[in-house]
Amino acid sequence: MAAVPSGPIRVAIVGTGGIARIHAAALRPAAPGLAAAVLAAAADVDPDRLAAFGREHGVPATYRHLDDLLAAARPDLVHICTPPHAHHQQALACLRAGVSVLVEKPPVISLREFDELTAAEAGPAAAGPGPWFATVYQHRFGAAQRHFKALAADRTFGRPLLAVCHTMWFRDQAYFDVPWRGRWDTEGGGPTMGHGIHQMDMLLDVLGDWAEVRAIARRQARRTRTEDVSLAHVTFASGAAASVVNSVLSPREESYLRFDFTRASVEVTHLYGYTDDDWRITPAPGFSVPPLMSPGPGEPSGHRGQFAEVLACLAAGRRPPVTPGESRRTLSLVAAIYAAAFTGQPVTPADLAPPSPFYDRMDGGAAPW
Ligand SMILES: NC(=O)c1ccc[n+]([C@@H]2O[C@H](COP(=O)([O-])OP(=O)(O)OC[C@H]3O[C@@H](n4cnc5c(N)ncnc54)[C@H](O)[C@@H]3O)[C@@H](O)[C@H]2O)c1
Repeated sequence: MAAVPSGPIRVAIVGTGGIARIHAAALRPAAPGLAAAVLAAAADVDPDRLAAFGREHGVPATYRHLDDLLAAARPDLVHICTPPHAHHQQALACLRAGVSVLVEKPPVISLREFDELTAAEAGPAAAGPGPWFATVYQHRFGAAQRHFKALAADRTFGRPLLAVCHTMWFRDQAYFDVPWRGRWDTEGGGPTMGHGIHQMDMLLDVLGDWAEVRAIARRQARRTRTEDVSLAHVTFASGAAASVVNSVLSPREESYLRFDFTRASVEVTHLYGYTDDDWRITPAPGFSVPPLMSPGPGEPSGHRGQFAEVLACLAAGRRPPVTPGESRRTLSLVAAIYAAAFTGQPVTPADLAPPSPFYDRMDGGAAPW
């Protein structure tokens, strides 16, 4: 069982590319609300990137391999910021070394890999402070989403009926020059897995368990192995229904979530992160509902909000959100969209259990192109 850290929390980052810089900035001691943390070590297989990252962020110890970092730097927490196909083995290595781990989305590239991770933390973690793994879904942590989720849970808006979940982003062909992007074996999917997963996670954060999915996926314009657009109809256990679109082909980019309850519509329109001002609420005729703004200072969505929660939990010996159960539900919705699209059949959670090929691979070996 991992011990509760007594001094500042020693964080290490593995993978020092694009998103690692957001992590390093969001961990800076100046960030208000953070439990004391130090960026104690970093690792990357690319020595030039590693050296540049180490210089930029004043990292005292750098390593080419995670195993060496784990043995020598003895971190309390590892942030995994490598390409998706590396997450599974690296998270397992951390858990086996007794170190808790915060994995960038998507946490892994198959449900099988996900369940192996859960099994690796299940023993000691069940009884105490870790080691655990959690997933980065930073848009759960803006003040407005947190407040909205609480109001929806206590039925302030009535019963959820209908939702819209759009991730309409634009990525040109050059974006896919990075070798791991746009491939099932390294990214685990296209915009459904890599981009829309953020909005779908917000959708599930509020509406809970999904029950059935119907979908199509297409490769319309980009030279990739994966889809570049998907469209799905999702039914929830509550009976609510959602329309979901995931695209990297949309020149006017937008992330849009809309929830129609019996007493109000709640909407957020943003792109890569929201503030309180991006939300609006419209009561149904004859109803009045409270303002959606959070009572506090309105933390925008972003890594800093999630890290504050993770570090506070680590310092207190508690498991942080986003738990494996929550994270698996989001990954399983992605798997269901691919399964429904590539089989042409409606898909339930039970349909994704072994021996479904979609348990082992997001494309189930069945992409029609
Ligand atoms: N939460 C978000 O909003 C968000 C945004 C962008 C990316 N991401 C996620 O972050 C992860 C990384 O994305 P990125 O855009 O930073 O990628 P990137 O290609 O810019 O950086 C990845 C880094 O990992 C290194 N690397 C590769 N294999 C390694 C290994 N085995 N060991 C150590 N280092 C290794 C590479 O050399 C590179 O420096 C992905 O899972 C991506 O989906 C999340």
